[in-house]
Amino acid sequence: MPLVTTTEMFKKAYTGGYAIGAFNVNNMEIVQGITEAAKEVDAPLILQVSKGARAYANHTYLVKLVESAIIETGLPICLHLDHGDSFETCKSCIDGGFTSVMIDASSKPFAENIEITKKVVEYAHDHGVVVEAELGSLAGVEDEVQVSAEDSSYTRPEEVEEFVNKTGCDSLAIAIGTSHGAYKFTAAQCTRNEKGELVPPPLRFDILDEVVKRLPGFPIVLHGSSSVPQNYVKMINENGGKMPDAVGIPEEQLREAARSAVCKINIDSDLRLAMTGTIRQFFAEHPDKFDPREYLKPARANIKELVKHKLINVLGCNGKASELL
Ligand code: G3H
Ligand code: 13P
Ligand code: ZN
Repeated sequence: MPLVTTTEMFKKAYTGGYAIGAFNVNNMEIVQGITEAAKEVDAPLILQVSKGARAYANHTYLVKLVESAIIETGLPICLHLDHGDSFETCKSCIDGGFTSVMIDASSKPFAENIEITKKVVEYAHDHGVVVEAELGSLAGVEDEVQVSAEDSSYTRPEEVEEFVNKTGCDSLAIAIGTSHGAYKFTAAQCTRNEKGELVPPPLRFDILDEVVKRLPGFPIVLHGSSSVPQNYVKMINENGGKMPDAVGIPEEQLREAARSAVCKINIDSDLRLAMTGTIRQFFAEHPDKFDPREYLKPARANIKELVKHKLINVLGCNGKASELL
């Protein structure tokens, strides 16, 4: 089975009321943890690679790792460029075997975003590759760029039709209150529950509904959708880490989004937390050990458990891979 695009995945996800998980990959253990989970629950996958991941692990290594995962699992997998920052980066991934790219010109003025997205779409479609674009901007850190809460902005529903019609993009990432990283909201933006845990403000489903009204049947993408599991934050903090007040998007809200037009949900930080928490705990409990396999193995196993939970309980895409084969 070759790498696939998201076209069929999104059609089925839209009508079936579920979303495809888009998980960021940076090394072999992360690829294995995610794909072994998906294999066990028969879920299609989007594996995505950021500019930073390409700089860290090398384009060819990442492509070959993902291709190896297809050989091992037989799953329908799309290889996607996350947050492509220029036509050149997108072209390099299209030429280098990716089946989907994101052009993120959301920080540019509307007309410029249209212009650059359209250029990427033309090149991508000529090569059988699909394109995700973005309108509105999320707060948080992505590829070393920090967007403050003040500089972030919700998607303006009145712009989406013109944007999609003029660019020809295949899916649209929108900003409805999610953000990148493990600190999605300040304590001041949240309330606290009876356990003293931070409770973030709800996502702006009203904006999503307005977008869907204007783009019926069109696949919507949510970035910044980690839930920041508090068991891993605790594991990190109890083993020498310092991540006070890390907080994410409640899983029930993501499930609700997945039932609607949201066909792709991006998750990266949660994998990082699972991996880091597991390794920190291992080091604290086994200060004498120094074989990387001994701590990468439990880290990979915990990524697998976390992803399985997301696929079944958050995305609802378990059992859907075989429908695409
Ligand atoms: O949106 C950003 C993703 O979490 C990728 O992060 O640029 O540090 O690889 P990265
Ligand atoms: P998180 O930081 O919430 O995992 O978001 C990841 C993301 O949007 C990748 O593009
Ligand atoms: Zn993102």
